[in-house]
Amino acid sequence: MIKKAVLPVAGFGTRFLPASKATPKEMLPIIDKPLVQYAVEEAIDIGIEEIIFITSDDKFSIKKHFERNEKLEQRLVENDKEDFVDKLNPKIFEGITFHYVNQEEQNGLGDAVLKAESLINGDAFALLLPDDLFFSKNSCLSQLSSIFLSTNASTIAVNKIDKENIHKYGVIKPGKEKNEAILIDDIIEKPSIEDAPSDIAVCGRYILTATIFEHLKKIESDKSGEIQLTDAIKSLLSEEKVYAKIYDGEKFDCGSKMGFVHATIALALRDKSISQDIHKIIKEII
Ligand code: G1P
Repeated sequence: MIKKAVLPVAGFGTRFLPASKATPKEMLPIIDKPLVQYAVEEAIDIGIEEIIFITSDDKFSIKKHFERNEKLEQRLVENDKEDFVDKLNPKIFEGITFHYVNQEEQNGLGDAVLKAESLINGDAFALLLPDDLFFSKNSCLSQLSSIFLSTNASTIAVNKIDKENIHKYGVIKPGKEKNEAILIDDIIEKPSIEDAPSDIAVCGRYILTATIFEHLKKIESDKSGEIQLTDAIKSLLSEEKVYAKIYDGEKFDCGSKMGFVHATIALALRDKSISQDIHKIIKEII
């Protein structure tokens, strides 16, 4: 079983300025829950016990969010608002250890993952990019976990993408497929349409064996000075099998304004406490 998850949250959040100036973009709410909490809950749901945030100095509010706030709890109890106490500290957080590792410089996703090496300690681990928000009966991570349990190999979530957007993603060259597990023959980070080996792109959930760290150490920075995880996965292919699973469910790219607003509207329409009014408001606006 996978017990540890890595969540890189050190990015500048440039696309969300000025909102992300004093508040980390991962703390921006979709309705009433910060974006990062959705990914944390998805991880805990498959049995993760240790959450490792790769973060930066000025993102202390993420740490504060996952700590108890006894003063606020006490005030809520005194005001007969006990129901909200569970919202502050959901039961699922009990027994979970949260680690915070500083990524001093923004040297890319590969560098962020490498920072977790000593805490991972040789185990396979989950990697969740909190910008990608997923909703499905079986979570995206649990779909990967089922494949990992039968293959014991690194497994990556993928989905089909319109060709014109392929340059934004890691793209796989699919090989043989067995029981929904696609063997990856090759992988390339953000190719042009002409160079893309398929229309199957990596989305933000991975299960990786610890062998990835040796490959991350060998990888050279790309043109923009970043160490790309995709390049390390390509290198890992020479040593181990790596599988892809076509994610079955909804995906919102909350790293973009459009995706963030889309997720907000979709979730508002599902929130029983406001959905009727939101329907009306949307109709009026249209
Ligand atoms: C990262 C990965 C990319 C992957 C994407 C999924 O890119 O490098 O391979 O397809 O996440 O969201 P980023 O979005 O950080 O540029």
